[in-house]
Amino acid sequence: MSTVADQPLAGRIAVVTGAGRGIGRAIATGYARAGAHVVVASRTPSDLASLVDEITAAGGRATAVPSDITSEPEVERMFAATDALGGLDIVVCNAGGMPSRGPVADSDPDTWRASLELNFFAAYLCARAAIGRLRARGGGKIILVGSGVGHRGTPEFAAYACAKAAQWMLTRVLAQEVQGDAISVNELIPGPVATTIGTGTLRVGTDSPFPTEWAKTPEDVVPLALLLATFPDHGPSAQSFSLMRRDR
Ligand SMILES: NC(=O)c1ccc[n+]([C@@H]2O[C@H](COP(=O)([O-])OP(=O)(O)OC[C@H]3O[C@@H](n4cnc5c(N)ncnc54)[C@H](OP(=O)(O)O)[C@@H]3O)[C@@H](O)[C@H]2O)c1
Repeated sequence: MSTVADQPLAGRIAVVTGAGRGIGRAIATGYARAGAHVVVASRTPSDLASLVDEITAAGGRATAVPSDITSEPEVERMFAATDALGGLDIVVCNAGGMPSRGPVADSDPDTWRASLELNFFAAYLCARAAIGRLRARGGGKIILVGSGVGHRGTPEFAAYACAKAAQWMLTRVLAQEVQGDAISVNELIPGPVATTIGTGTLRVGTDSPFPTEWAKTPEDVVPLALLLATFPDHGPSAQSFSLMRRDR
């Protein structure tokens, strides 16, 4: 039998972007298991349909809204789905990717722009659309999935690093703007995870090429995502939480 402790998100409504695969899919599944109704978004409808099937077969609740989150109207449509469900409590701005790799000198401006749009501007659009809805609910959580690359910088990942650094600044500025509304805004840094965005060569459970990091599965990220979603309404906020397990 489920207990309150098993289902800390019972009665909550959460949006998870980039939920079709990888880390977002694991977080959406974990939130649904914890009792939330999850609104899941990505561009590939079949990924979302199979996720909703899995969640509902396990007794959970999920709504798919296929969306390109770099599009403002599509972001608004995604959040309108939460209005139809009665409100919004948690948003996880997770969708991301690496359209641009390689030295700045050889880079293509259009690909750079696409990387900034996906890894930064889309999170801004989602956070912006969420604020009024969270205020209407009396508070909530905004969780932005960042990267250690956005803190330390990594050669040949400049567009991704700049986008994630901007997103980390957005986390801190927005947290101050909404601190009186019982809305917390925090960054979640997963570290290297075996997903399609490029860590396929990592052996899960071992050390990664970055000295402070370890290679993990998407499911390894879920406990931290749950922790951030269940913090008290008054905070912590404006913080970055990483799954690193050694000092820098
Ligand atoms: N994996 C890592 O090692 C790692 C490390 C640090 C940070 N991160 C961050 O973790 C987050 C998730 O990454 P992941 O590794 O799980 O990547 P992933 O397996 O490639 O999944 C990315 C998800 O985002 C969706 N997506 C991509 N572009 C989108 C768009 N324009 N609109 C809506 N959805 C979109 C993808 O679906 P569609 O293509 O169907 O839209 C997919 O569902 C990203 O923000 C990434 O930067 C990952």
